[in-house]
Amino acid sequence: MTSVSDSISEIEAPALKELDAASDADQLEAWRLSYLGRKGRLTHVLRRLAELPLDERRNLGAEANRVKLRLEAAYDQHRGRLEQARLAQVIEGARQDVTLPGPPLPHGRLHPISQTLSDVLRAFENMGFQVAEGPEIEWDYYNFEALRIPADHPARDMWDTLWIDYERDGRRPMLLRTHTSPNQIRIMEHTQPPIRVVVPGKCYRFEATDPTHEWMMTQVEGLAVDDGISMADLKGTLAEFARRIFGEDRKVAFRCDYFPFVEPGMELRIDCFICRGEGCRTCGRTGWIEILGAGMVHPEIIANAGYDPDRYTGFAFGLGIERIALLRHGVDDIRHFYANDLRFLQQF
Ligand code: FA5
Repeated sequence: MTSVSDSISEIEAPALKELDAASDADQLEAWRLSYLGRKGRLTHVLRRLAELPLDERRNLGAEANRVKLRLEAAYDQHRGRLEQARLAQVIEGARQDVTLPGPPLPHGRLHPISQTLSDVLRAFENMGFQVAEGPEIEWDYYNFEALRIPADHPARDMWDTLWIDYERDGRRPMLLRTHTSPNQIRIMEHTQPPIRVVVPGKCYRFEATDPTHEWMMTQVEGLAVDDGISMADLKGTLAEFARRIFGEDRKVAFRCDYFPFVEPGMELRIDCFICRGEGCRTCGRTGWIEILGAGMVHPEIIANAGYDPDRYTGFAFGLGIERIALLRHGVDDIRHFYANDLRFLQQF
């Protein structure tokens, strides 16, 4: 068995050499265990010191302690160096070249209905109309009663209604507005003529969908009340609007129609962009697509608003933005607009 003093002198140099060769945290730990750990070589030698006579133990003990302190200091230093190297590597890996172009951001865009709505509103603003808004949840009173559509009136069938609260607890019934016409009443309640206003908004109907009908759609209500407004003003305004939105080439037709809150009433149609008037699935074989209902405000409504019916007359119209978007972009089915298919929406 080698003597304790031989063992001590044999440990230091190879231990330092091995330590130098340790190139990562695992190798460093293995080195520590093999020299300084509980079963390590130096620890073993230190234990054997106890077996020696006192004066020998004192000398060798001092030497053994020196080697132990030397190895511990070398270990700490080497561990520091390895940690520095590791950090340098992490920093190098995370370095970014800020001059490189970034990944392209996907472009957002306005929904085609929002685009058409803003073009329509701009056209009317340029013709002197102001823009106002009204509630989507409406009282029966404004949606029907005040527009001369009482509870038993057959015209209620024209607007299949989504009720929210039907005559419960004696309260007035509420609904999702079926058209923007309630805003005619709301505006007349608190405004004196002259009035020229357009009111955009979503409307809801409990009806089966088809290429030109959705259960939710966007209307723009128009209302003008003034001294001496005539049917010619209404036709002129709508023809000019159609020219601004569709250009000179599209055919426009006015046709009689019935709405209880106007007299006389009419609708405006544009020639079908798909069949150019021949008749197809999209236009329901008629050759035309209806985009709005309109008419002269009923004298009873003028009087109910507190205006002098002998002096004031007015016109109103309600147009469908989805129908206008269909015609402008040549889309063959209104349901594409709200199907949320990005392949469709990205084309606009
Ligand atoms: C009305 O809603 C009347 N309030 C319009 C009006 C206003 C008449 C002022 C007189 C005076 P109508 O139900 O026809 O009328 O709808 C008007 C327009 O909304 C239609 O021409 C059409 O463009 C659009 N529209 C109606 N129902 C739908 C639907 N289900 N899906 C898509 N668009 C629709």
